[in-house]
Amino acid sequence: MYQIYPRSFQDSNGDGIGDLRGIVDRLDYLAWLGVDAFWLSPIYPSPLADFGYDVSDYTEIHPQLGTLDDFDTLVEEAHQKGLRVLLDLIPCHTSIEHRWFGRHPDWYIWSPIDGPPNNWVSVFGGSAWSRDDVSGRWYLHTFYPEQPDLDWRNPELVEAMQNVVRFWLDRGVDGFRVDAVNVLVKDAELRDDPPAAKPFPFPLHEDAARLDHVYSANRPEVTGALRSLRDAAGDALLVGEVYLPTAEYQRYLEVLDLVFAFELLFSAWGSASLAAAIGPAAALKRAAWVLSNHDFDRIASRVGEASVRAAAELLFTLPGAAFMYQGDEIGLPNGPGADPPRDRAGRDPMRHPMQWDASPTGGFTTGEPWLPLIDPQRWNVKAQCANPTSLLHFYRHLIQSRRNLGPGFRLRDPEPGRLAYERDGSLVTIETSGD
Ligand code: NOJ
Ligand code: CA
Repeated sequence: MYQIYPRSFQDSNGDGIGDLRGIVDRLDYLAWLGVDAFWLSPIYPSPLADFGYDVSDYTEIHPQLGTLDDFDTLVEEAHQKGLRVLLDLIPCHTSIEHRWFGRHPDWYIWSPIDGPPNNWVSVFGGSAWSRDDVSGRWYLHTFYPEQPDLDWRNPELVEAMQNVVRFWLDRGVDGFRVDAVNVLVKDAELRDDPPAAKPFPFPLHEDAARLDHVYSANRPEVTGALRSLRDAAGDALLVGEVYLPTAEYQRYLEVLDLVFAFELLFSAWGSASLAAAIGPAAALKRAAWVLSNHDFDRIASRVGEASVRAAAELLFTLPGAAFMYQGDEIGLPNGPGADPPRDRAGRDPMRHPMQWDASPTGGFTTGEPWLPLIDPQRWNVKAQCANPTSLLHFYRHLIQSRRNLGPGFRLRDPEPGRLAYERDGSLVTIETSGD
């Protein structure tokens, strides 16, 4: 599966922002690369406080990205080329500008008192509660204050979100990457989170790291909420973003097809850490392997340029689904970001435009790109396409060859500098460093 960050993939009209028609123009590239499907980060109308993860209308397209007609064209042409289409579903929160916030306040989570009712903190730092200027009441936001959390205990909201799922399935979508699943349902009594007893294994804002999120997140009731999504989704693919260690994935996999294996994404590039991340996730049989996305450092910047081929080989020879992020196939490192930054949480460097050719704007746009590029002469698709020994060709080769791998998988004990596993008859060895 190939993750597209739509604003940064291909601009078709020179406004410096990637769009749906641009993606249509690049479908042949995806087919050539050999991926089965692509996941589009959010394409819905949004005031962009969280670059599309703050949705103000779930059943429309952001005007900067195109129209529903463009979307229909995209799905039709993708399917003709044998590519399936996954959308990003954001069921945890809307934008504060969504009409639901004014019209259906009881679809959201409010404090019963005049102020924050507990110590919950936002993923981006500070209290998870803010005062609504209109009503004077306090609402919950697990992410930015511009992203009020929806109340999954309200059956009307559940039905509204089921209708969103059906709307896109009717338009031909094949599945969804489901955002922020671990924080979808919160404690009904809004109890305080206790102090963290041990460090959380993944990156967290320091405010969030101080607490053990047993009431604000990862509630057992989440399975019921996911079941209602499943009822609407039928057998469409549902891939969950569950920002928790692998040991917590079971309740999510009761309903979802796949969950991202975050322990792999955050693993140090050493054989012992990789083996520790891979073993338990592989045992689940339904890990979605992933090494990068629009939120965290790019592979080249994390593991180092010398290890990008080994990282690709690992990603594509593990058993089960693999997700790659646009640009990793040409080895793009983190970008410089914008000044002043576009994303308040510092994620611009992972969202810079695709580089299709060596021209100053990388073939991404004829205008001024919304985020700066990173030396298109050094990294671009066109040059790597023409060079059979390039990283791009290596990705293509791995994507083709993985189809011949059987389901068998056995990890060998890690040795310094070397991770090895058996895939049926063949032995895969991955060179690592930092052991
Ligand atoms: C996870 C998304 O990947 C991230 O970009 C976003 O900020 C949060 N969820 C909130 O929707
Ligand atoms: Ca555009």
